[in-house]
Amino acid sequence: MRLNGKVALVFGAGPNIGGTIAHFLAREGARVAVSDLNLAVAEKTAAFICDRGFEAAALAGDAVVEADVARLVAETVARYGRIDCIVNMAGKIHWSPVVDMDLAAWTETLLSYPTAGMLTTKHAARAMIAAGTRGSIIHLLSTAAHFGEAAGAAYTAAKAALLNLARSAAMDLAHDGIRVNTITPCAMEHQLWTKMSDELETGYSAPPRRSFYSRDDYLKAIPLERFPRASDLAWAAVFLASDESSFITGADIPVDGGLRFKYPAWTPGDYTGVNIESYAAETSVTEYGEPVRKLRP
Ligand SMILES: NC(=O)c1ccc[n+]([C@@H]2O[C@H](COP(=O)([O-])OP(=O)(O)OC[C@H]3O[C@@H](n4cnc5c(N)ncnc54)[C@H](O)[C@@H]3O)[C@@H](O)[C@H]2O)c1
Repeated sequence: MRLNGKVALVFGAGPNIGGTIAHFLAREGARVAVSDLNLAVAEKTAAFICDRGFEAAALAGDAVVEADVARLVAETVARYGRIDCIVNMAGKIHWSPVVDMDLAAWTETLLSYPTAGMLTTKHAARAMIAAGTRGSIIHLLSTAAHFGEAAGAAYTAAKAALLNLARSAAMDLAHDGIRVNTITPCAMEHQLWTKMSDELETGYSAPPRRSFYSRDDYLKAIPLERFPRASDLAWAAVFLASDESSFITGADIPVDGGLRFKYPAWTPGDYTGVNIESYAAETSVTEYGEPVRKLRP
């Protein structure tokens, strides 16, 4: 019961990441409002949580529409009397190589993630300030916030904007004791691979993305050698929502098995027999661009 007495509002309540985070917040004692564009999705998530004896309510609203966000915050406060935490993951991805980028698709992605981030932060913070609550605001990023990705210009730009929005909001809200942090997952264990798996799976049709990686390539690059589960993200969200993280703000928690911090050229376990030392030994030393001697004859 690490969140006993707290109230959380989740924006984006699908059964993968948002629903799992809502479930874990509720399991730790929070009363949780789950909101989604799609009321049926929010209701399903709330029913899942309530069936297990925890407290949740379903709300419908669009996190990129200011009136909706203001209403969702107000409805949460009206129902539960306060708001201590929000978790936001709302947005719309469009994949496209930059040379083929459709302006409407670009604009939708660019306007969705950072705008939802700003609006949810703004209205949750206003309610927290009005009540004197030292709350916690959490945004879901992606490794896309930190790297370039083929066919991902819109998504990477949007998530990078959300990252710096969160950092700046953390500075704006520090004097009110409100914390703003982010969580960065890499590609998730399930769901993703039903859409973007390797050629061997039946029913697969190649995504129209050049230079895309296979599941096996991706897995080999993760030092902890598995994809993150939604529960891995939910534990990070519980920590950021709780008073255990009361001195952490403006931070990003990577939940990626070490992917972001590994030496980029190192692929754990993938070894052709030529390591960097033997390669160097067979290589000429150069000075001013000219070979001066062979390291090992
Ligand atoms: N699935 C992955 O592999 C992965 C990897 C890295 C990061 N992420 C990030 O995690 C978050 C959740 O991912 P997911 O896979 O669970 O996505 P999902 O598509 O399964 O769920 C997202 C939910 O948000 C809702 N939503 C979308 N736009 C909204 C809006 N404007 N207002 C209200 N609700 C809205 C959708 O209806 C959906 O229920 C996203 O921010 C995504 O970018 C996902």
